[in-house]
Amino acid sequence: MTQSFLSVEGLTQRYPSSESGELTVFENLDLKIEKGEFVSITGHSGCGKSTILNVLAGLDEASEGVVIMEGREVSGPSLDRGVVFQNYSLLPWLSALRNVTFAVESRHPEWSADQVKEHANYYLNLVGLNDGVEYRKPSQLSGGMRQRVSIARAFATEPKLLLLDEPFGALDALTRGTIQDELLKIWAGTGQTIFMITHDVDEAIYLSDRILLMSNGPYARIAESVEIEIDRPRSRGSIVEDALYYDIRNHLVQFLTSRSKEFSGPSSESDGHLPKMVRLSENSIIKKKLMAL
Ligand SMILES: Nc1ncnc2c1ncn2[C@@H]1O[C@H](COP(=O)(O)OP(=O)(O)OP(=O)(O)O)[C@@H](O)[C@H]1O
Ligand SMILES: [Mg+2]
Repeated sequence: MTQSFLSVEGLTQRYPSSESGELTVFENLDLKIEKGEFVSITGHSGCGKSTILNVLAGLDEASEGVVIMEGREVSGPSLDRGVVFQNYSLLPWLSALRNVTFAVESRHPEWSADQVKEHANYYLNLVGLNDGVEYRKPSQLSGGMRQRVSIARAFATEPKLLLLDEPFGALDALTRGTIQDELLKIWAGTGQTIFMITHDVDEAIYLSDRILLMSNGPYARIAESVEIEIDRPRSRGSIVEDALYYDIRNHLVQFLTSRSKEFSGPSSESDGHLPKMVRLSENSIIKKKLMAL
């Protein structure tokens, strides 16, 4: 069997807890992601999404289990894995531009200062930060602007694996749409692999190849992996005309509103730990056949 680009095996995270002695956020998670895939994950607040992403980034160590990327165990951060954090995490003493050039310099130490600046400005432009805004420090920027700096920084380092923790949460609808489309263009042009956390089901369907559905914690599980079999390139206007779009959307909303609570307590040994693969196109075909009868 060929090896996946990214393989998560038996991932478990426990924290000491004053109430119950120990909090098991999730236990024995298994997951595989192929090179070039765009995978999103959604689930209720506190189920452990950011924890998983930080472990994939090598910034957090899991209590048990391993993450293997391109055949090598992930231990510690690497420039091959770029992160847009939920709380932006910019260096407060540096301007927006310097926050980006700092990252680009680490990625390309052989580049001249002009090359670095041009590259950084290209990505800052892409997220609409120009006309002098790029010289402001994070404290002088709005939340949405800070989030855009963080996005520009991650895109500019062109990592093999892009890890996005609710990257568009603080953006207005118009900016969000523009940056989502830029992200799709970058992704299509680079063959990067993307793992994104989002609470927005429409965003997840528009962008992803697969959406992972995480049940509520403690002992959260990645219960399902829903395939988004909608042709690319997708258009925001016409995607909503696709019958499959509504089947997928209903499935996701139904999971979040009711089924996410069903999986509670430690999983039994007999449970498979890989998420169950769900393909709603099969349902649509059956439905269409039934309607034709
Ligand atoms: N350092 C820590 N010590 C103790 N508990 C922690 C720590 N970090 C996270 N947790 C707990 O782990 C659980 C998962 O947290 P995490 O941040 O991964 O959730 P999340 O799914 O990203 O939530 P949100 O959607 O609100 O961002 C939460 O119950 C949180 O309180
Ligand atoms: Mg989070």
